[in-house]
Amino acid sequence: MCGIVGYIGDSKASPLLLEGLRALEYRGYDSAGAALLLDGAFHTVRRAGRVEQLKEPLNALNSKATIGIAHTRWATHGAPAEPNAHPHLSADERWAVVHNGIIENADELRADLEAIGVAFASETDTEVIPQLLERVGMDGDFECAALENLGEQYTPLEALLDVLPLLKGSWALGILCADVPDTLLCACQGSPLLVGEGENGMYLASDYAAFAEDVHKVYRIIDGEIGVLTQNSVTFYNPAGQEISKTAEQFSRKEQSSDKGGYAHFMRKEIDEQPLAVRRTLAHFFSDDGVFRLSVELPVKPRKIWLVACGSAYHVCMTGKYVMEELARIPCEVAVASEFRYQYPLITQGDLAVFVSQSGETADTLAAVREASSRGAFTLGIVNVPGSAIARACGAVLPTLAGMEIAVATTKAYSAQLSVLYALALHFAKEAGHEAPELEKALRQLPEAIQAALSTEETAQFIAEQIADAEHAYFIGRNLDYAAALEGSLKLKEISYLHSEAYPAGELKHGTISLIEAGTPVIALACNERLLPKTAANIREVTARGARVFAVCTNGNEDHLDADAVISLAATHPLLMPSVEVIPLQLLSYHVARIRGCDIDKPKNLAKSVTVE
Ligand code: M6R
Repeated sequence: MCGIVGYIGDSKASPLLLEGLRALEYRGYDSAGAALLLDGAFHTVRRAGRVEQLKEPLNALNSKATIGIAHTRWATHGAPAEPNAHPHLSADERWAVVHNGIIENADELRADLEAIGVAFASETDTEVIPQLLERVGMDGDFECAALENLGEQYTPLEALLDVLPLLKGSWALGILCADVPDTLLCACQGSPLLVGEGENGMYLASDYAAFAEDVHKVYRIIDGEIGVLTQNSVTFYNPAGQEISKTAEQFSRKEQSSDKGGYAHFMRKEIDEQPLAVRRTLAHFFSDDGVFRLSVELPVKPRKIWLVACGSAYHVCMTGKYVMEELARIPCEVAVASEFRYQYPLITQGDLAVFVSQSGETADTLAAVREASSRGAFTLGIVNVPGSAIARACGAVLPTLAGMEIAVATTKAYSAQLSVLYALALHFAKEAGHEAPELEKALRQLPEAIQAALSTEETAQFIAEQIADAEHAYFIGRNLDYAAALEGSLKLKEISYLHSEAYPAGELKHGTISLIEAGTPVIALACNERLLPKTAANIREVTARGARVFAVCTNGNEDHLDADAVISLAATHPLLMPSVEVIPLQLLSYHVARIRGCDIDKPKNLAKSVTVE
């Protein structure tokens, strides 16, 4: 949610900042801006809309500046309009700030500042930061100030050390001070921030994707830390202002490739990358000679397993519950992360709490981790971004190795997450003495099963053409098919804006069936062979009321279903079918969105990682 970049070095800053923003646009794309520092003054460009809107005005500036900060925004405070776009400047235009996160006490701070005559130029929470930075350097005007003017005894670091304790909430900050043109400051609390060291200078970014090719070392800034970057060095400080040492990871741009590789959209590319994502993720669970093992120590026989996440990752948890309970016979509770801590969860020592997140940054999931830990549960993170906040907050981590996912709509991370939950269920089943050799074998072959499902694209596209004009669509399914229906429905509405709902197939007649009219599309998932007759009956109920039914089932069952078109899939182990049936659903959504002319990789109002509650 919001992407920030910064650069200080010996190259022109503006093209590097623009490239960095393009790579971070998946994080938010309501508005964008950059501030370049040259000859002791800021040159700022801000625009509502996409990062591309910055290109012309930045080129027009033709600035020689070799230091700057930039931002792509997902609006939280104030409309996505130019005045609210970052960077935000102090009233005296000596400080410029880009921010990812939320300043929760911004209203109070703003009121205090306005009371002493500070005029604000935006509606954002962020603007209090440059305004505070300006004030702390002045005598007596603000509570924390007892220091001389900036540039004499007061350094930007000292100003920042004074301001940070005044803030509540979360932040990743890039900060420039016009009086100190050889320094770029950064700080982090609850939002991701990386410092990259390159041949041509030092970089700041919310994500690895934004780093230029010359970056070869990366430092992850963690909560409370501050970084002071110069053209060729970085020094880190703790909140008390004491210098600390940090270890860098080696980095290579080539391994973080973020181009479309010839595909029209990242989403379509990532759909095709699913067999590889699942293969790499599962390799973590099988030794070279094929023996299943878990790389982390988990509590033996947890009393209960909690599965907690948001959005698609929540649907992974829904699937995980069915699989875990059937295979390992351990009671599972699934919770939406944003509700978890407000439902006074009866979670306790002896419970295992599993948190699933692609980004590892989702604020609600992170807060749920903290809630579960505070109640004594063992916490396990299933995350795609190593070193992310959720990974760091959990007692143990099982990684999904899907690689960088750029499209806002998740596909390959979803599939990788599912495969980890199957492996987890297998682990607990084995521990309880319930060997499941057939499932274990099918799990190892899951990448091939997913690969085969990709061949359904033609039929998925045909169905997309049938439903693209519809206003509403319904997904139905029972048991594991219901969990897959939830994901299919979310994917469709998320990227194509075609309204859809998912229901347990037997539930429709308790209300929703009144919405079925002649021609209403119903996507019926019938991959659960045990429940096929039941789902077939539910399909007849809707066709009798005029629905056009598009079914998904396993090979050989087509004739049992009264459907307008059927997608047939090669069966794998029944508990693994959600991984296979989700593929045509992703393809269906993709093609509906394409036909409707939607911005597939960046659906409106969304962002890839949601770092606000
Ligand atoms: O990064 P996370 O996995 O924690 O994100 C959770 C959801 O925001 C995410 O799955 C969202 O629902 C996707 N955009 C769906 O495609």
